[in-house]
Amino acid sequence: MNAIEINNLSKAYKDVKAVDSVSLTIEEGTIFGLLGPNGAGKTTLISMLVTMRKPTEGNAKVNGFDVVKQPGNVRESIGIVFQDPSLDDELTAYENLEMHAALYGVDKSYRKKRIDEVINLVALGKHMNQMVKTFSGGMKRRLEIARGLVHHPKILFLDEPTLGLDPQTRISIWEYIKKLNKKEKITIILTTHYMDEADDVCSRIAIIDSGKIIAEDTPENLKDALGGDVVSIKCGASKTCSEELSKLKWVKSAVVHDGLIDIRVEKGEEKIPKILLLMEKKGILVESVSLRKPSLDDVFLHYTGKTIREQEADPKAGMRQRMAAWGHKR
Ligand SMILES: Nc1ncnc2c1ncn2[C@@H]1O[C@H](COP(=O)(O)OP(=O)(O)O)[C@@H](O)[C@H]1O
Ligand SMILES: [Mg+2]
Repeated sequence: MNAIEINNLSKAYKDVKAVDSVSLTIEEGTIFGLLGPNGAGKTTLISMLVTMRKPTEGNAKVNGFDVVKQPGNVRESIGIVFQDPSLDDELTAYENLEMHAALYGVDKSYRKKRIDEVINLVALGKHMNQMVKTFSGGMKRRLEIARGLVHHPKILFLDEPTLGLDPQTRISIWEYIKKLNKKEKITIILTTHYMDEADDVCSRIAIIDSGKIIAEDTPENLKDALGGDVVSIKCGASKTCSEELSKLKWVKSAVVHDGLIDIRVEKGEEKIPKILLLMEKKGILVESVSLRKPSLDDVFLHYTGKTIREQEADPKAGMRQRMAAWGHKR
């Protein structure tokens, strides 16, 4: 059965189409990753699925329920971990979960058992009587995940669940997410900025840019579809070099990012000497060369023309876009 069925779903704000005619189905049991640059429409798309925002066009079903006509049924059948922190700092971890369980009508006789279950799933059992204000960022996020699970949702939505956490904590959060997907047989729909982590965790991925889904497949297929190898070189005058390289027949693409030129070619190991010779003829000094198979980063770059790191280098970009969209002056 399909967990999610989306048909030509759109959300227009005054002068932006934040989500533009998206159609997508997601099978039960999938860990589905939505990847896209800041302002791509990820949060808006998820917000419509969890009935926090109304679509302007199209329709969507979540667990078989229509998001506009049956919002109550949708909400009961899903768990949400969104970005705004919404735990009560002055309560213990246990109390936070209990409040949520009561809110969702989890039977009283069963509540304790279920809370124990989810709190242990995210390894917070030892801290359950501790006030949340004493928790680290990672512990809070884990508690939010546990809370999203208390009422046995069939789908868990996570918007950037690891944003702002240190690498070690991010790894542990992904481990919990994988574990609960298996143990609770729950469908997971998440957005993230971390490509390698998405590659590792997600069974399917959609790349979204300017409100449109431009590619959707397993991470393996997305990478394979790009084909060949990536030769990455560091040199001065990258812009001119990449333009020269792009003209060559055996070069699929040459893109500058993060001060490197990524050159996609077949049989990369044979092309490295050719590339070096060319650079030498032009009198350009090559500082370093590396060869790799396309990663999800390369897939992202291929479809959106930018790397997620370039996005991250300018964390205010999304905010500026939003303010512009709302008619604010900078
Ligand atoms: N409440 C709003 N009013 C007007 N524009 C908005 C609002 N929320 C988001 N947008 C715009 O919609 C687009 C998509 O935003 P969002 O869904 O937050 O993207 P993402 O989560 O991928 O960063 C952006 O251009 C953003 O500026
Ligand atoms: Mg967002």
